Amino acid sequence: MKGKVALITGAAAGIGRATAIAFAQKGARVVVSDVNAAGGKETVDLIEEGGGTAMFLRADVADAESVAALVSGTVDAFGGLDFAFNNAGIEGEAASTTECSGENWDRVIAINLTGVWLCMKHEIPVMLERGGGVIVNCASIAGVVGYATMPAYTASKHGVIGLTRTAALEYAKQNIRVNAICPGVIETEMIERFTHGDPERRSELREGVPVGRLGRSEEIASAVLWLCADDSAFVTGHPLVIDGGHVAG
Ligand SMILES: NC(=O)c1ccc[n+]([C@@H]2O[C@H](COP(=O)([O-])OP(=O)(O)OC[C@H]3O[C@@H](n4cnc5c(N)ncnc54)[C@H](O)[C@@H]3O)[C@@H](O)[C@H]2O)c1
Repeated sequence: MKGKVALITGAAAGIGRATAIAFAQKGARVVVSDVNAAGGKETVDLIEEGGGTAMFLRADVADAESVAALVSGTVDAFGGLDFAFNNAGIEGEAASTTECSGENWDRVIAINLTGVWLCMKHEIPVMLERGGGVIVNCASIAGVVGYATMPAYTASKHGVIGLTRTAALEYAKQNIRVNAICPGVIETEMIERFTHGDPERRSELREGVPVGRLGRSEEIASAVLWLCADDSAFVTGHPLVIDGGHVAG
């Protein structure tokens, strides 16, 4: 991956930050993007401290102009785009299908689903200009099974898998691979918010994982890197579950 260009959204924290660092450790030049500028710059500092190359570009993935500027800013800075990890996402509020507010629905769909579509819409043309590329979209195990109290989140992540398969078919002959990852419960700020820091809720989550622990962001990052490497050259349109066996039963 030496000298290649990787763009990661939602890279100010959690899974996005760990993946940005992992790309940089493999020699890629990394564009760290997020709505959170302070966290994004911290990710860049961590990469540079490790001897890597990165820059921060602020973008809101739910905003079409912002995403267009992010991709053109990436090309201006690093000359093109080879890998994109469309990772930015929010959990939204926990509420049943009948209690989910219209505002929560719209916000979750705008960031988690429309955001992934907007990113691909702008990333694919610049990858085509370069002769190919690899996209990894961040879904969830909530993209393959239902999740009570999370209707918007679950619908958005199922949608990400549909979008992934569609783009994979559309660009397979043009050397662009598009896959999704479906993480299980991973130790990040999202899970802290989701459990309200309550140790009992955390241990309930842990009990639902056959391997008996939550996942680490680095374990998701290594799967993203594999999907971007030539080792997975025959893999496209695939939703890769990384969940310690959570949805195996
Ligand atoms: N943590 C888990 O257990 C888990 C499980 C399955 C899937 N995921 C998915 O992984 C991805 C990353 O989650 P995480 O756990 O690292 O969460 P996180 O909250 O730690 O990080 C998400 C990042 O996305 C950024 N973000 C939010 N809205 C944005 C927007 N509109 N534009 C740009 N950036 C935005 C946030 O500022 C934050 O830095 C999400 O798509 C999430 O749905 C997480």
